[in-house]
Amino acid sequence: MKILGIESSCDDTSIAIIDSNKNIISNEVFSQTEIHKEFNGIVPELAARNHIIHIDRVLKKCLRKSKLSLNDIDLFSATAGPGLVGGLIVGLTFAKTLALAKKKPFVAVNHLEGHVLLPRLTENVKYPYLTLLISGGHSNFYFIKNINDYIFLGGTRDDALGEAFDKVAKILGLEYPGGPNLEALAFSGNENFLNLPFPLINSKDLDLSFSGLKTAVLKLEKENKKKADIAACFQKTVSKILCSKINQAIEYCNKKFSCYKSVIISGGVAANSYLRKDIKKTIISKKKICAFPPVKLCTDNAVMIAWAGYERYNNGLKSNLKHRAKPRWPLEERKYLS
Ligand code: KG4
Ligand code: ZN
Repeated sequence: MKILGIESSCDDTSIAIIDSNKNIISNEVFSQTEIHKEFNGIVPELAARNHIIHIDRVLKKCLRKSKLSLNDIDLFSATAGPGLVGGLIVGLTFAKTLALAKKKPFVAVNHLEGHVLLPRLTENVKYPYLTLLISGGHSNFYFIKNINDYIFLGGTRDDALGEAFDKVAKILGLEYPGGPNLEALAFSGNENFLNLPFPLINSKDLDLSFSGLKTAVLKLEKENKKKADIAACFQKTVSKILCSKINQAIEYCNKKFSCYKSVIISGGVAANSYLRKDIKKTIISKKKICAFPPVKLCTDNAVMIAWAGYERYNNGLKSNLKHRAKPRWPLEERKYLS
């Protein structure tokens, strides 16, 4: 079975084709990074217009590279939320139209579901598992019991981690997108030059908080401290916070849920190699299997949407063509939807 997925919830127009044997046949992305760079962030209206301009070309390129035609596709899936509503409507309508024209099923996918299910495609992870999703809009712990059965365990009370990376990068004068640029700068810094605050580190719940860190960085920048040192300290502190909370989450799930073997980290921030190294050590020390998607598939892509669409379809969770774009859509609500 061949599945075509479309992702357009933010600033990338991405279309991918995978098959039910877990092969990624093609994965095309039109990145709008250059378009939004001058605004130092994403302009929603501009993003939506560019999805419309480029989506048809991205589809053609994807089909050409995979040497397939639309007649070879058995299932169409698209991100229906959460995200920027203009872009969501473009991708969703495009996918519905293709499904209708080709008389094939359609599945609407929650973007977060795409991120958290992807390691089942790339790393063969088995249900159930614990996951930490760290992206530009979310920083949440979930226990993934099965397809469509997700339990929210805790999350950020203020900024998402990717958002914190982007804001700190901006304070340090780095270009958008901030996360990868901050990681690059941190390489040459001294991570031990001072200690930053550890918000919520002693709290018993699995909540996170990153806005205090951002304020601390702002203060250091005003004091003219070396930018690379600030970046390195910020990254090290984030890593310590995540590792401590992951430890706590594993212990909680060990008590609460029957045997689970894997802990997976997904979302754009999971592309950070410094964090990957520390987190992997932490998870292995707790005798769990640690899995990350490949770096290239941590940030937004349509492979994850095609895969989540396939998993849903395979479990009888086809969507109606009336499915709307949902700019706000918590993952755990999926339990009650089909
Ligand atoms: O998952 P994603 O592509 O989009 C959302 O669903 O939000 O995540 C994007 C976020 C951005 O905030 C970006 O700065 C961050 O992931 N990011 C990184 C790295 N690569 C991307 N943060 C830290 N280090 C990186 N290497
Ligand atoms: Zn994402």
